[in-house]
Amino acid sequence: MTKQKGKRQLGVLDLSHDFLRRHVQSGDLCIDATAGRGFDTVLLCELVGESGNVLAFDIQQEALDSTAERLAQAGYRAELHLDSHANLEQYAEAGTVSCIVFNFGWLPKGNHEIFTLAESSIAALDAGLRLLKVGGALSLCVYYGGANGFTERDALLAFLRSLDSRYYTVLQCQFPNRTGCPPFAVFVTKDAEPISEKESAR
Ligand SMILES: C[S@@+](CC[C@H](N)C(=O)[O-])C[C@H]1O[C@@H](n2cnc3c(N)ncnc32)[C@H](O)[C@@H]1O
Repeated sequence: MTKQKGKRQLGVLDLSHDFLRRHVQSGDLCIDATAGRGFDTVLLCELVGESGNVLAFDIQQEALDSTAERLAQAGYRAELHLDSHANLEQYAEAGTVSCIVFNFGWLPKGNHEIFTLAESSIAALDAGLRLLKVGGALSLCVYYGGANGFTERDALLAFLRSLDSRYYTVLQCQFPNRTGCPPFAVFVTKDAEPISEKESAR
C-alpha cells in the first residue's frame, strides 16, 4: 500500500522534546547522556538559559565535534565530555540535576556498529536517578531491533519495571500500530528521595 502524502507523523523525539519543554526551567542543571549530533544538547541549552548549565556525554569524538558545531551555530555553550554515561556521577552532585536525556542507539549518519549497550546504559540510569533532584526527570528514547538487537531494550524495561513506585513514576509511550521495531519513549520522574532499607528500619 503506498503512503498518502500528509502531515509528518509524531515520533519519539517530538514526545521527548515536548516533555523537556514542559519540564526544564531557566537556571536548571541538565545532562545529555548521549550527545550524538547535539540536537538534544542544543534544546537543553535553550531551556536552561544563561543561568543554567548543560553537561553532554558521548564516547565518540565525532559526536562531540558535531555537538560543538551545532552549539556554536546556535550560540550556546555546554560542557562536553568524551566519557561513558556510566561515569555520570563523577561530574555532578547527587540531588542537583533537573533532567537527564538518553537517546539510545547509534550516532545518526555515523558508525552503526557503535551503539549504546545494556550494561553501561543500566549503570548510567542507576547513577542518573541518584543525580536527579526530587521533581527531576529522565527522558529516554529507546531504539532497538537493528544492529543493536533486543538485549538493551529488554534490560532497560526490566530496570524500569523494578523502580519502586513510592519514589518514581514511569511512563512508557509506544506506537502499537506501527510495524517493525518502532522506537518508544519513557519518562521517569523522581517523586521522593528513596529511603534505604536500613534507614526505614530505624
Ligand atoms: C542516538 S545517538 C544520540 C542522538 C543525540 N541525542 C542527538 O540529538 O543527535 C546515541 C549516541 O550514544 C552514544 N553512546 C553510545 N554508548 C555511549 C556511552 N556508554 N556513553 C555515552 N554515549 C554513548 C553514541 O556514540 C551515539 O552518538
